[in-house]
Amino acid sequence: MKKCLICNTRIDPFISFGKMPLANGFLTQDQFADEYFFELKVAFCPNCGMVQLVEQPDREKMFNKNYPFFSGTSKLMAVHFEEFAEHVKKDYLSSQDPFVVEIGSNDGIMLRHFKKDGISHLGIEPSENVARVAIENGINTICRFFDEDCARRIVQEHGQADAFLGANVMCHIPYLHSVIEGIKILLKPKGIVMFEDPYMGDVIEKMTYDQIYDEHVFLFSVSSIKYLFEQHGLEVIDVEPQETHGGSMRYVIARKGIYLVSKRVSVQLGKEKAMGLDKPETYANFRKNCEDSRDKLMSLLNEVKKQGKRIVGYAATSKSTTIINYCGITTDHIEFISDTTPVKQGKFSPGAHIPVRPYEEFLANYPDYAFLFAYNHAKEIMAKEQKFMESGGKWIVYAPKAKVLE
Ligand code: SAH
Ligand code: TYD
Repeated sequence: MKKCLICNTRIDPFISFGKMPLANGFLTQDQFADEYFFELKVAFCPNCGMVQLVEQPDREKMFNKNYPFFSGTSKLMAVHFEEFAEHVKKDYLSSQDPFVVEIGSNDGIMLRHFKKDGISHLGIEPSENVARVAIENGINTICRFFDEDCARRIVQEHGQADAFLGANVMCHIPYLHSVIEGIKILLKPKGIVMFEDPYMGDVIEKMTYDQIYDEHVFLFSVSSIKYLFEQHGLEVIDVEPQETHGGSMRYVIARKGIYLVSKRVSVQLGKEKAMGLDKPETYANFRKNCEDSRDKLMSLLNEVKKQGKRIVGYAATSKSTTIINYCGITTDHIEFISDTTPVKQGKFSPGAHIPVRPYEEFLANYPDYAFLFAYNHAKEIMAKEQKFMESGGKWIVYAPKAKVLE
């Protein structure tokens, strides 16, 4: 019997996406035989409302010295994190000599904006290769997983912090109770927590079910986050919807009673009720929509291939692992996936083993169709691929439903 990671209530999966490899497990041919798989099943907790994976691979399997996701590969995300940092500086760093801690700080995409202003900062990043990039750029970073113990160490060595930040990392951590106890140790009495992650409401509304993969052990909503932090005497004081990753939510949290709570919190909670995020039926319906979305996508791909057209994948994202393996996309459909990340190039996609090739190969021989796996970067990508479109190239997208963009 499986128990909710947040409140220990019995949970049952509402969907299984089947056997899945690690979403960032790009591999070489000699590693095919030993590839790791687990069953990607998702459950909704009827008590606290948290949507979560029923099984998750060990953290060291996912986050290690070969982590292939470098935050800095998207220019728009660089702008997004600059704005995030400016918001923190302007609205939440009023003390004399502020200290900021970011977990999952990756290559330093956000912390560099604190460093440049001489603000004390510390990144906590367990994946050694990405942490090294930050360190080489002079960003203070320690290579370890954040939890209660780690918080104690930071306070001993650096003192308490004014802000605890995280982007696309809190939803990766199954032991959130330890993280929140750590936050309480780490933060000054008036310190704030600000983090953002893909938002359950958007996943349901936009059918971006590819946000479900091994690293994302949780899909948060305002109500599930409120429940979780209240268990520890903290309260959500603001929420700010974001466009990133197909729809995310930023949460601002502090010790109870210190700050006014923005109206936006109750407004968003009302929206979640109206959407039925607290009802099991919503998730049963979501499962049907996933199956429907898969069938439509496969008919479209098969139709295009019947016409003898070439399809190339655009961006070897981690979320494409769910789409590719759940829908049954193979090299019969997609010739290769083009990606700008050097460590992914020359390898094969997890599970389906579609070759990942340098972006230059896409440019050198445009396909008839580019399958846009990084739809969350559509604006940036469309702007730079004018030539592809002028030469008759078309895009295939799958969210909210499979279609060809002419
Ligand atoms: N914040 C960046 C990176 C997100 S990827 C961005 O939004 O682009 C998630 C990162 O969290 C990875 O670099 C991973 O190594 C890190 N991570 C995973 N578990 C962690 C933990 N317990 N503590 C700190 N970082 C963690
Ligand atoms: P992202 O959607 O951030 O990935 P994930 O699903 O893993 O969170 O996309 C990052 C990947 O997309 C990365 O491998 C680089 C690739 N990419 C390109 O190849 N070209 C581009 O123009 C962009 C923006 C990303």
